[in-house]
Parts: sequence; C-alpha cells; structure tokens
Amino acid sequence: MILYFSGTGNTRLAADRLARLTGDQAVPIDFDAASMPLQGRRDRIVWCFPTYSWGPPPVVADFISRVRLEAGGIPHFMLTTCGDDMAYTDRRWKRLIAARGWQAAGAFAVAMPNTYVLMKGFDVDSPETAAAKLAAMPAAMEPIAEAIGSGGPDILIRGSWPWVKSYVIYPWFVRHAMSPRPFHHTGACTGCGGCARSCPLGNIAMQPGGTPHWGNRCAMCLRCYHSCPRNAVAYGKATAGKGRYMAPKDI
Ligand SMILES: Cc1cc2nc3c(=O)[nH]c(=O)nc-3n(C[C@H](O)[C@H](O)[C@H](O)COP(=O)(O)O)c2cc1C
Ligand code: SF4
Ligand code: SF4
Repeated sequence: MILYFSGTGNTRLAADRLARLTGDQAVPIDFDAASMPLQGRRDRIVWCFPTYSWGPPPVVADFISRVRLEAGGIPHFMLTTCGDDMAYTDRRWKRLIAARGWQAAGAFAVAMPNTYVLMKGFDVDSPETAAAKLAAMPAAMEPIAEAIGSGGPDILIRGSWPWVKSYVIYPWFVRHAMSPRPFHHTGACTGCGGCARSCPLGNIAMQPGGTPHWGNRCAMCLRCYHSCPRNAVAYGKATAGKGRYMAPKDI
C-alpha cells in the first residue's frame, strides 16, 4: 500500500506515479482514522509526504506513531517530495518507524515545485522552474520504483548542512513556526467555502456571515492559501506579494 499526505498535490502526483509503476494503490492518509486496512499491495507500505522544514510533517509523524496497521513483518519505505532538499528527513522517519517496531527498508526523495511562502526569502518557483520539476518527476520515479522492488539503495536529496536543518531548525520550526493563528481572509473573499471544503484536517469553518475561520488543528500544508480562487487567504503579513501554486490533477 502507498499511504500519502499531500497539501498542494505534488506528493499525490508522485504517489500516483509510484502506484502505476509498481502495480500498487495510492491511498490518502485519513488522519481521523485509528486504523487503516491494507489496500493494494499487502507486502509493503510506502509512506509518502512532503518535506516540512527538513523533516516529516508533524501530522504524519503523529499518525505513524499511533495508527493501527497490519504492518508487522512487512518492509516500510518512504518517499518525500521537496522543493529543494530533504536533509535528514529520512533519519527522522526511520526513528518513527523503528519506535513502532516496524522495519524501515528504504527512503527516497524527488524534487517538486516549492510551496513554502511563509518566511522572508521563500516564494513559489517561477512557472518555468515549476514546469521543469513537474516534467522531470516521472523519469525520477522510475529508479525509485526499481529500488523499492529490488531492495536497491536509497535515493535522497540531502542538500547542505543537513544535520543543522533536521536537528536544529526542524524542532524550532515545529515549535514556533507552525501556528495557524495568522491565517485570515482578505476583503477579496467571496465566501465560496472552497478553503473549508478542501482543508485535509477540517480546520476551517464557515461562519454565519459567510467567511472562513481557522481553528487550531492545522497541518500547515498551505492548501487553503494556494487553492483559494480569489487569492483571498493571507498569513499575517508574510504572504504579501507571494505567489501561489497548485499541482495539476495529473501529468
Ligand atoms: C510548511 C512547509 C515547509 C516546507 N519545508 C521544506 C523544506 O524544508 N525543504 C524543501 O525542499 N521544501 C520544503 N517545502 C516545500 C514542499 O516540501 C514541497 O513543495 C512539496 O512538494 C509539497 O508537497 P505537496 O504539494 O504534496 O503538499 C515546505 C512546504 C511547506 C508547506
Ligand atoms: S476559498 Fe477563498 S474566497 Fe472561498 S471562502 Fe475561502 S478564502 Fe473566501
Ligand atoms: S487550515 Fe490551511 S494550512 Fe491548515 S491544514 Fe487546513 S488547508 Fe492546510
């Protein structure tokens, strides 16, 4: 089974591609579920998620720590999508898997268009860069599918200063830079409710006045920000002048 979490669609595309290459099924993680039945191939689990500040998204880490799966004895793999690099995301994931008594058998990364826009200096890729990354993904997935099938080596995008990124910045980021409190709607909001319907954690409620309100259960996936048809979602002042990106349905 391929279990995936995707905010803006990149990881869904990579998981779907992997499913096609390996005869498996890509299933979105249901964060409300206490247990998930195995679907598709029952001889392995491939965890797919975006890299968040050089580690696994906390919602995924939490899910791995508590979900009931018929996963005893079968190998676990991970595939992360990242805008630039994933540092030691694989080592953090391996610790989560080992803590469950499961077997981490391999880790893989593929570069996809960047979606992080909440700090100074971070913005979406230019349309040309985003298109080039999307176009390169299918070929990048072939050796990954091959390695999963044959027990081949990990394929990773470490980048520079991986230890500092994953063991100093990641814990700081999770503690201090993942609050949904700064999310708000601007005057351009039409009250269409799209953000509330598409939030993977059901964190957005439409108020009686027809405007969205953000709660505290947020994955920081930025789907609400990137998918609003009126570009009416903002995060404090951090998103002023920043671009938007949603992955295509298929490639
Ligand atoms: C909160 C957050 C943190 C991110 N941190 C990183 C990072 O540390 N390194 C990186 O290369 N990309 C980072 N990104 C970019 C995403 O990993 C990348 O765009 C990914 O493909 C998004 O996947 P999705 O479309 O499935 O959500 C981050 C994105 C978000 C929303
Ligand atoms: S998707 Fe955009 S326009 Fe629609 S309710 Fe949400 S913020 Fe408002
Ligand atoms: S509120 Fe927005 S950023 Fe948070 S989980 Fe929902 S869609 Fe993602």
